[in-house]
Amino acid sequence: MKLIFASHNENKAKEIRSLLPQHIELLTLSDMQLLEEIPETADTLEGNALLKASYVNDRFGLNCFADDTGLEVHALNGAPGVYSARYAGSSKDPEANIALLLKNLANVEDRSARFRTSIALYWNGEQHFFDGIVNGHISKIRSGSDGFGYDPVFIPENSTRTFAEMTLQEKNQQSHRARALEKMIDFFE
Ligand code: IMP
Repeated sequence: MKLIFASHNENKAKEIRSLLPQHIELLTLSDMQLLEEIPETADTLEGNALLKASYVNDRFGLNCFADDTGLEVHALNGAPGVYSARYAGSSKDPEANIALLLKNLANVEDRSARFRTSIALYWNGEQHFFDGIVNGHISKIRSGSDGFGYDPVFIPENSTRTFAEMTLQEKNQQSHRARALEKMIDFFE
């Protein structure tokens, strides 16, 4: 079965491929030769996931899904949240995003945070939503070189290592995206 993932993000696609059952073949937007960026103009994760999934569904008329993820930091009243990709500006630079986050949390004791993923799926013309959350905290310095985005500064609960210090399999055991995806896989089964 072919399933389109409405994203160009190869890091996400790699995580998702390693979780999907073998009979599902994941195709990204690059595989579909769709090179443009889909605008993410909604003010919720669910809204952005739906924008991306419906764009692709309209274009190809095929089953597809999209995810949108936000990092929600308690001491920053849930910021950067839905604006996580553009936290430090429109260039969506992960290094600059992390630098701004660490600056805004300098001298802040409560560093608790969570990642939240919302998946929107178009399945035989119907919309379905799945979500996943992982709680944790923001470290004071970057550690690790795996993963992507905010992974070098996010330590999930019950761990002493950041996501960027974990293997893909270790991150997938507890990540927000893996949890949302498990719900979608349950739906398929
Ligand atoms: P989006 O879901 O691609 O819009 O991601 C929003 C922001 O969160 C981007 O800056 C991503 O790099 C970051 N992000 C998304 N998923 C993860 C993750 O699993 N770990 C760390 N950062 C992530």
